[in-house]
This record gives sequence, C-alpha cells and structure tokens, in this order.
Amino acid sequence: MDGAVALHLTVLDMEFLSRFGPSFMRTYYRAWIAAPGSMSFTAVDDAGALVGVLLGATDPATHVRSMVRDHGLALVTAMIKSAALRPRLAKDLVVTRGGRYVRGVTRLLARRIRRSTPTTLPDQPKVGEVTHVLVDPSRQGGGIGRLLIEAAVTTARDHGNDELVLVTPPDLAARHFYDALGWTADGSMTSRSGEPFLRYRFVLH
Ligand SMILES: CC(C)(COP(=O)(O)OP(=O)(O)OC[C@H]1O[C@@H](n2cnc3c(N)ncnc32)[C@H](O)[C@@H]1OP(=O)(O)O)[C@@H](O)C(=O)NCCC(=O)NCCS
Repeated sequence: MDGAVALHLTVLDMEFLSRFGPSFMRTYYRAWIAAPGSMSFTAVDDAGALVGVLLGATDPATHVRSMVRDHGLALVTAMIKSAALRPRLAKDLVVTRGGRYVRGVTRLLARRIRRSTPTTLPDQPKVGEVTHVLVDPSRQGGGIGRLLIEAAVTTARDHGNDELVLVTPPDLAARHFYDALGWTADGSMTSRSGEPFLRYRFVLH
C-alpha cells in the first residue's frame, strides 16, 4: 500500500487530498480498501514494480458511508495533524470544505449513519464509480491504464452494476484516454468544493 500511496502522490500531486501528504494518504488508502464495495487495483510489471493504481467503488454510497463510519475519526485525525503542519492547506481546507466536513463529523459523532440504510432502490440503475486511475509517468502510453479500467469494468459487471461513472478535471489529458476507451462524455459539473469537472459514463450492458 505504501507503494500505491507514493505513486499517487507523484502522479496526482495536484489533487487536493495529495496535499495532506503520505501519512494522511496511507490512512485514506487503508480506509478506501477496507470499506465494503471498494474497487482497488494495482498494476505490477514483470519485475514486480508497481506501475499503476485504480480506486473506485461498485456501490459508492455504501462505500463512502462505511469509510466515514468506520474510519472517519482516523481520517479526520490524520487530516488535522497534516493541516496543522501546513498553514496554507489548513486555510484552503476551512474555506472550501470546512462546513461540509464539520457536518459529516457531527453526524458521525451523533451516530446518525446507520448500517442498514438502503442505497439503491430496486428500480434504479446500479451505478459504480472510478475515482482515481494513475500510471507511473515512465510507463504511460503502454496500455497499463487500459488494463486497470478493464479490470474495473469486469468487476463492476460481475457485481451487477449497470454503468460506471467518473469525473476528471477539464484541463487533464485523461479525457482523451477515456474517449479512447469508449467512455461517453456526460456534461460538466462543479464539485461541492467549487472545482470544475467533466463527467464520463460507461454503460456495462
Ligand atoms: C490517464 C492515464 C491513467 C492513462 O494511462 P496510460 O497507461 O498512459 O494509457 P494507455 O496506454 O492504456 O492508453 C489507452 C488509450 O488511451 C489513449 N490515451 C491515453 N492517454 C492519452 C492522452 N493523454 N491523449 C490522448 N490519448 C490518450 C491511448 O492512445 C490509448 O488509445 P489506443 O489504445 O487507441 O492507442 C495515465 O496517463 C495517467 O496516469 N495520467 C496522469 C494521471 C491522470 O490524469 N489520471 C486520470 C485522472 S484521475
């Protein structure tokens, strides 16, 4: 897992979460992998070197709720420790996400996140998501990203998902990657923290 975190911090250094550094990101990866419904894949080359990572979830609502319920306090503690060492990050955290995170922690402490809440009504499509895909810069363009996405597609299909979705920043070349893999552009959106994203979807049957 340390190798995946190191690669994440190298390849996606511009991402907000990456700014919290290795210790927080290890906590984040641990929580992501442990929570039910996660998709967590690594690509390893013939020499055993880690060359790619994909994170996602077949049931994002269950997954995020479990992350918050079972790992929320560890995540918040790691985040606060990291932000305490990085004043600019602390300011950005409060301005862009402060209110939302405080509400989440309050809910967590009030134990209002229940284990039995249904996530998908029977007649709604089962939508999984890919949240991160990253390949070692020295190995990009060699088909590793395609293999990681294919693993996610196969897993989601086996799980019974109807489609996969993802978002990517509009300024990243990754959108050409998703175009090449047959994903459909599905408009743009602004995250609750104010960042612009392009949406993509992939129908699984
Ligand atoms: C985006 C990324 C995951 C793609 O992985 P990769 O291993 O380099 O991609 P692949 O070699 O499997 O490419 C698969 C297809 O996408 C195309 N493609 C990949 N990157 C492309 C780019 N920047 N521009 C145009 N086409 C691209 C390839 O040409 C290939 O198409 P083909 O099979 O028809 O020739 C990788 O480049 C990466 O880690 N980028 C930085 C992190 C990032 O942007 N992640 C996504 C946002 S979270």
